Amino acid sequence: MLPKAIIAIAALAFSPANALWPIPQKISTGDSVLFIDQAVRVTYNGVPIIPIGYNPPASSNFDSRQIVQGAVSRAFQNIFSTNYVPWKLHPRNSNFEPKVAPQNRIQSISIQQTGKDTSKTFKPRAGDVDESYSLTISKNGQVNISAKSSTGVLHALETFSQLFYKHSAGPFYYTTQAPVSITDAPKYPHRGIMLDLARNYQTIDDIKRTIDAMSWNKLNRLHLHITDSQSWPLVIPALPKLSQAGAYHPSLVYTPADLAGIFQYGINRGVEVITEIDMPGHIGVIELAYSDLIVAYEEMPYQYYCAEPPCGAFSINNTKVYSFLDTLFDDLLPRVAPYSAYFHTGGDELNANDSMLDSHIKSNETSVLQPLLQKFINFAHSKVRAAGLSPFVWEEMVTTWNLTLGSDTVVQSWLGGDAVKNLAESGHKVIDTDYNFYVSLYFENRDIM
Ligand SMILES: *[C@@H]1O[C@H](CO)[C@@H](O)[C@H](O)[C@H]1NC(C)=O
Ligand SMILES: *[C@@H]1O[C@H](CO)[C@@H](O)[C@H](O)[C@H]1NC(C)=O
Ligand SMILES: *[C@@H]1O[C@H](CO)[C@@H](O)[C@H](O)[C@H]1NC(C)=O
Ligand SMILES: *[C@@H]1O[C@H](CO)[C@@H](O)[C@H](O)[C@H]1NC(C)=O
Ligand SMILES: *[C@@H]1O[C@H](CO)[C@@H](O)[C@H](O)[C@H]1NC(C)=O
Repeated sequence: MLPKAIIAIAALAFSPANALWPIPQKISTGDSVLFIDQAVRVTYNGVPIIPIGYNPPASSNFDSRQIVQGAVSRAFQNIFSTNYVPWKLHPRNSNFEPKVAPQNRIQSISIQQTGKDTSKTFKPRAGDVDESYSLTISKNGQVNISAKSSTGVLHALETFSQLFYKHSAGPFYYTTQAPVSITDAPKYPHRGIMLDLARNYQTIDDIKRTIDAMSWNKLNRLHLHITDSQSWPLVIPALPKLSQAGAYHPSLVYTPADLAGIFQYGINRGVEVITEIDMPGHIGVIELAYSDLIVAYEEMPYQYYCAEPPCGAFSINNTKVYSFLDTLFDDLLPRVAPYSAYFHTGGDELNANDSMLDSHIKSNETSVLQPLLQKFINFAHSKVRAAGLSPFVWEEMVTTWNLTLGSDTVVQSWLGGDAVKNLAESGHKVIDTDYNFYVSLYFENRDIM
């Protein structure tokens, strides 16, 4: 008799390493080995697809076949180029790899899209797209993918590529889990992250790299906090001084072509980009370009005027701010609307004291400021809607200022506590971006150092 511990280790050594992420809703796997090679035939709705080296053309017209073809190419790249031998998923010195037997191989990959994509598929509001998919691999190597939307197909191909590993004996790629049957769908329609590009400029390549990682994890919304009091990297051709004076350096900017490229790159990977111009606080940097629009820029002690220096807010009872917003939105929103259903007007951490210094207001009283703010948001959101977009705001617009917002508006909660529950119960669409999770991680890291 073998001691129990040895039996347990032996069982571990032969159990398949399952590295699918996120874990599919329903999965069943077997223990047969199938190899895959680059000659495998792939069809999409019955028509063959070129699986290698395809990149969809840069365009604002999105085509389901081009999107799927790009995704098949990336799945092949994952399997054949950037794959790994899964040493780390097995006990040391265990003999986990199958015998190389390329005759047992994936015969063909049949992708069936059962619904038609619409323009909403490529710039959806939450819930517009059915992202579900099913994926089966039969024991004899027939792969069937079925999804209602091309977005579901992208997720299926991502899952498919994660089933395969590289063999240490050479250029062989295999799964040990056939037959496979997976049905999957996301739990939440909005699964996103935010990049703070105003405080920390990131290169276009790094933003695209982030979108890649999001697509591997089946995340579908990238929120770009693209301006703030620290810097204004966004080039607005109708207001060139904004980025000329406001960027950290003339090279640290996002041109209209850069922005379009980010949107397109995202859509090809199932990631919708949401652009934010934070206002009326968090916008002091405009002082450097158009000084008569801003109050409390670099005001000290900063704690009385903002959460993080340099301070600065729009002078919200100043008609010049309204004409500025007209020009800004008329330039920017038509460049966002082909690619996104949303535009974020910010609204966090507005400090009432800023308006004390405003010659057009000279008050920090809620009863004075609230109607001005309501008028300001009504104006901004009417511009957003006129461009065919739905507004996003940070939670304080409701929780601190009690503004009345259109039912299309999405409220993004970040302060934790009961806000998500309260906002949802009062009928708002809510995104939970609880900052406590990030902050607790930060403190843990610092504690370790
Ligand atoms: C896979 O799809 C083909 C044709 O699309 C069909 O004939 C076959 O039954 C499917 N196999 C499985 C296991 O679903
Ligand atoms: C506003 O400024 C006063 C000092 O003038 C300070 O006591 C108060 O805390 C400030 N309010 C906020 C919200 O920072
Ligand atoms: C806002 O500006 C208008 C026009 O300049 C003025 O009549 C009004 O008193 C201002 N409101 C406040 C609260 O200062
Ligand atoms: C308004 O200003 C007064 C006087 O500086 C200050 O005591 C009060 O805390 C301020 N209120 C707010 C909401 O900041
Ligand atoms: C918020 O606004 C609503 C509608 O305008 C009003 O009924 C309610 O009393 C306000 N609540 C507070 C706390 O100001």
